[in-house]
Amino acid sequence: MNNLILQVENARAYYIVENNYIRAIDDVSLDIREGEVVGIVGESGSGKTTLTNVMLMNIKKPLSFIDGKVSLFSNGRVIELNKIPREELQKNIWGKETSIIPQSAMNALMPTKRIKDSILDVMKTHFEEIHEKEIIDKAKTRFEEIGVSKDAIFRYPFELSGGMRQRAVIAVATLLNPRFLIADEPTSALDVSTQKMVLKTIQNLREKGIVKSIAFITHDIATVRQIAETLVVMYAGKIVEISPMEEIIREPLHPYTKGLLYSVVTPEPEVKKRGVYHIPGAPPNLMYPPPGCRFHPRCKYKLDICKKDEPKLKIINNRKVACFLY
Ligand SMILES: Nc1ncnc2c1ncn2[C@@H]1O[C@H](COP(=O)(O)OP(=O)(O)O)[C@@H](O)[C@H]1O
Ligand SMILES: [Mg+2]
Repeated sequence: MNNLILQVENARAYYIVENNYIRAIDDVSLDIREGEVVGIVGESGSGKTTLTNVMLMNIKKPLSFIDGKVSLFSNGRVIELNKIPREELQKNIWGKETSIIPQSAMNALMPTKRIKDSILDVMKTHFEEIHEKEIIDKAKTRFEEIGVSKDAIFRYPFELSGGMRQRAVIAVATLLNPRFLIADEPTSALDVSTQKMVLKTIQNLREKGIVKSIAFITHDIATVRQIAETLVVMYAGKIVEISPMEEIIREPLHPYTKGLLYSVVTPEPEVKKRGVYHIPGAPPNLMYPPPGCRFHPRCKYKLDICKKDEPKLKIINNRKVACFLY
């Protein structure tokens, strides 16, 4: 099956608020392959976190899965996640096949419980019967594997430093060796040296074979470049470009990607040479996205067609771009 792990096809997921649709994920398709780290970037509000919920099929009000397909490939089987009831996902898929380090990871551990009790709670959703000692032993091993003292599991979250706590969340998310791990802005709330440590921890998960594939979400290209081999760029609820990392850094195709790369706070050396360029304006309100290409109001290369027609992702060699310039 071309070693796919997860495939999202033409997914639409909207928040329904007072009878209005917020088109947070609008016709998004994405392949995650075995062994791959995919970086997903885009400004705040572009739909990255909503996409994580679509990949997991963790759909809760006010979010609604409008249409599309999300398939998980497991031992030669194809499981259509969008057809599986939530209780079954919780029991058989989440944590075992797919898992997430959520954006608000600091709150992912119950503040009033010792970490071990949070772990036991999570395990109770997966198994009818749990063997406490076995789980505790497994957790201790995993904590040590990722560089946190095994005694941390007997502590309360507030007793750990930010970096320790983030790694504790990583340990819990990967306890059952999920094949596909999503990390939603796992380093954004941390200081620079802690960021490096956490990034290394996530890299090691794949090297040690604890997880097979990772989707690493961030708004910081300099960070994602260190870990991902493929980059996905999102804008206003859509994917505008997908490319091997080094090629997109060398030559961004979509005008939005150009803006995103040229306006990074600490430019990569090869980007710096080209000068800094800022994208004027702001992303659209997703309740009333502009017609045609959602980026056209901010695009200095726009054509007439961009105001009327929606560009589809077009294949150019080993890359994809949704732009009428190509
Ligand atoms: N619970 C919610 N209710 C209504 N709108 C939401 C909710 N969560 C996110 N949104 C909207 O969905 C869009 C995408 O948000 P999100 O997926 O969080 O983006 P990102 O993670 O890239 O910052 C934004 O316009 C945001 O305001
Ligand atoms: Mg987010």
